[in-house]
Order: sequence, then C-alpha cells, then structure tokens
Amino acid sequence: MWFCDGFGDRRAGRGKIVKLSQYVLCGYLMHKMYSIKLTGTADSSKIKDSEAIMNKNSIKSDRAQIAAIIGGILLLFAAFFIAFSVQDQKQGENREGMIQEAARLDTSGLILEVGEDERSVRVNWYSNEKSDFELQYGIPSGDGEPDNYVSVPLSRRKGGVGGTFRYTANMTALEADSRYVYRILETGSGEMSRDYIYRTAQVEEMFTFLFAGDPQIGAEGTEEDSKKWDETLKKSVSLVPEASFIITAGDQTDSSDKKKANKQYLGFRSPDVLKELPAAVNRGNHEAGNDLYEKQFQREGQQGMEYSFLYKNVLFIALDSMSTEPVQQIEFFRNTVETYPADWIVVTMHYSLFSAGSHAYDHDIIRQREYFAPVFSECNVDLVLAGHDHSYMRTYYMNGLNSTGKDGGKKERGEVLYLTGGSSTGNKFYKKTKKEVGYDVFFLEDKIPVVTSVNVDGKTMTIRTFDMDSNEEIDFCEIRK
Ligand SMILES: [Fe+2]
Repeated sequence: MWFCDGFGDRRAGRGKIVKLSQYVLCGYLMHKMYSIKLTGTADSSKIKDSEAIMNKNSIKSDRAQIAAIIGGILLLFAAFFIAFSVQDQKQGENREGMIQEAARLDTSGLILEVGEDERSVRVNWYSNEKSDFELQYGIPSGDGEPDNYVSVPLSRRKGGVGGTFRYTANMTALEADSRYVYRILETGSGEMSRDYIYRTAQVEEMFTFLFAGDPQIGAEGTEEDSKKWDETLKKSVSLVPEASFIITAGDQTDSSDKKKANKQYLGFRSPDVLKELPAAVNRGNHEAGNDLYEKQFQREGQQGMEYSFLYKNVLFIALDSMSTEPVQQIEFFRNTVETYPADWIVVTMHYSLFSAGSHAYDHDIIRQREYFAPVFSECNVDLVLAGHDHSYMRTYYMNGLNSTGKDGGKKERGEVLYLTGGSSTGNKFYKKTKKEVGYDVFFLEDKIPVVTSVNVDGKTMTIRTFDMDSNEEIDFCEIRK
C-alpha cells in the first residue's frame, strides 16, 4: 500500500502529500455537498404530501447522512496521513542525513605511505575522531565491490596537538598488477569512508617513482601552498602516470608553531593523489621544532625517524638529517645495507650534502657531508635525493668528497649521484651560492616548481626532471651499471 511505504525519498514523500491533499479535498467536498443536501431534504419534508414522497425523502436523507459520515471519515483519515507523512518525511530527512553523514567520515587527512616492500602499503590517517576504526581492502570483482574485504584494525596514537589522532594499518600480501579498493569503517557506528583505489606495481622488475623537494606548506600561505601542492601532484601523475610512489625529502610544512604546523600538515595530506599514490617522507629542519612529524610519521617499532623499504631490486634508506645521533644513523644505514642486498641503493635525506644553493657552505651541511659521503661511496650508494636548498641541482658522480667529473653514464663502484630537489610548490627559492662548488652539472636558476621522475629498469636508472609550470622536461640523466 502506498501509505505504508517508507518516505526515505523526499521527492516521493512530496508526491504522496499531493495525493493526500487530493483525498482531503475530495472528502471535504463530499462532506460539504451532502451536508447541504441533508439540510435541503429537511425543508422539503415539511410538505409531507404522500408516504411515497416521505419514504423517498427518508431514503435520500439516509444516503446523505452516510455520505456526510464517509466524507468526515475521509477527512479524518486525510488528517492522520498528513500527520504521518510529515513525521515520516522528517524521518526520511534524518535517514538521508545519516547517509550523508556516513559518506562524510572525514578522510581528508588520510594518505598512503610506502610499505616494507612493493607487496605492502601503509594507510596513515590523521583525524580528530577518537574511536575504533578498521581498514578494509580487497580486489573488486569486475566493476563492482570486492566479494570479500580483508579487515585490519587501525592502531591509534595521539597526534601531537590536543584532540588529534594518527591511525595506521598496513595492506599486506598484495597481488601485483592489481586494483584494490580500500576504505575505513568506524566499527561502532558502521560509518564508512568513501572508497579509494590503490594500484599495485606491475609484475615486471621495472618501475618508476617520483621525487619532490620541500613542499613547505605555509611558507607563502597555508591555503595557497596546499592548493599548489595539490596542483603539483595532479600534474605529476598526469605526466608520469606509471609512478608507483612519491618521495618528499623533508620540510613538508613550514611552521614550528604546533597549531599552524598542524593545519599545514592537513594541507600536505589533503590532495586526493596522496590517497592513491603512496608517499615516502623525510623529516626536515622546519619539522624539527615540534613533535608533529614524529607523532604522524614515525613507524611502529622505530626508534628514530629513519626507515627503509625494499622496492623490487632497489633498497631505499631514509635518513634523518635532524638526528643528533649521527653514529646511530650510520649504524642503521650499514645494518640495512647488509640486511637487504639489492641491485640499487637510493638514500633520501633532507640536507643536501652536495648542493650549490645558499646552504652549500652551512656548518651543519659540511659536517654531515664529511660524515656521510665517504660511507655512501664505501657502500656503493647509487643516488642520494635531498631537499633543503629549494633549487634543483644535479652533481657529477661523486666519490667520497671528490667530484669525478663524470656526468652520469656508466657508473663505477663508489660513484654516487647527488640530486637536490627544487621547490615542488614554487613557494620559496634560494639563489646559487657565489662560491664555486666544482661538483655541479646542472643548477636551475629559474624560479619554477619542479618534480623529478626516476625509472629503474634492470641496469639503468633514468632521471627526468619536469618544470611544473610548462610540463617541459628540463633535465635528463642516466645512471648505468
Ligand atoms: Fe629545509
């Protein structure tokens, strides 16, 4: 029956109110019309000429009374259904509201991070919600939903600013060359996030990753820089759609003030690209003034901010330039190299050991250069990706502290290429140092945002850097083994 249907759809509810109004009108007219007739027959009954007339009038009178009663009943029913429909429409609004609410589980602070290898990825969600959540993921059947979801509880940690929390969980044992759907469920309420997609790497060894220098959200303005960061990421994945992840070499945010930095981290996390393309981040000097970076990005079981992952045949080691324990950094580095033998070694860190920007002769940089560069050559690191200088620069192959004068190409053991990322958001640039550094092949003087792609294919690593304003390739280099 139509009046028993739910009114979940507000448009359907309005249609039913229109129908009810018709019944009200009908009932009212019947009631009114026969009430008038009843009054009329009462007057004519005064004539009383014959029994026949009387009987006829009596029958008419009975019919009129019945009709008036029916009209009245219709009016009562109509009144009842109007009340019912208004209440039900309100319930419908609530239900619709709940559906919207469910879709509104705020995951703007969610990003993916690289896992331990190409078969895993880490979900890292920064939120104001304090509750129990689980990560659900699976491969959809056809265009639909996955038949089965793997469910993993998200672990919660305080976020560094009152009322914020970081939730993490890993998607593991992922199949190559597959499209996964993942989402977050609040276990108590059943509230769900929207669905996100994560595509795993292809079966072949070859893969590509992106490298972005200091986004430093907030250096120019939190809102503007967040928008620029979003644009840079969108352009990057449209230029290099095959990218498997993106490395940012520190200074994700600008401010050392916790409240400001908190907003800036939310800006850094906000782009949708980072919900489908995992990031691998480093701690920058702008992030060392408070514990927000540590609270958000420190991995489970980790002592400091350094970490590593093995992606196919490449070992990535993220060092922490802000660490006051260089001995521990070196120890971690050496142990990792020994534990995970790989064809290639890529180091990421915030301070550029060989830059040509205004930080090239900073005391801290020179100290770390002398400390780390000989070890990198000794362990045959291939590529070092750093930031801090906001000016894109590529070196000759370095061996220890010395330039070999070789511009890429066939690499000998101990030769290391150092790449300093430019500003990925275009919000802050430094000039080239006036002192000759002697190891720079390419220094970008133009104030343009850049992002670099690195393709690893067997014994060749190909480095391409793009101007994010014009989408033009501005630098190219190959490392061959
Ligand atoms: Fe920096």
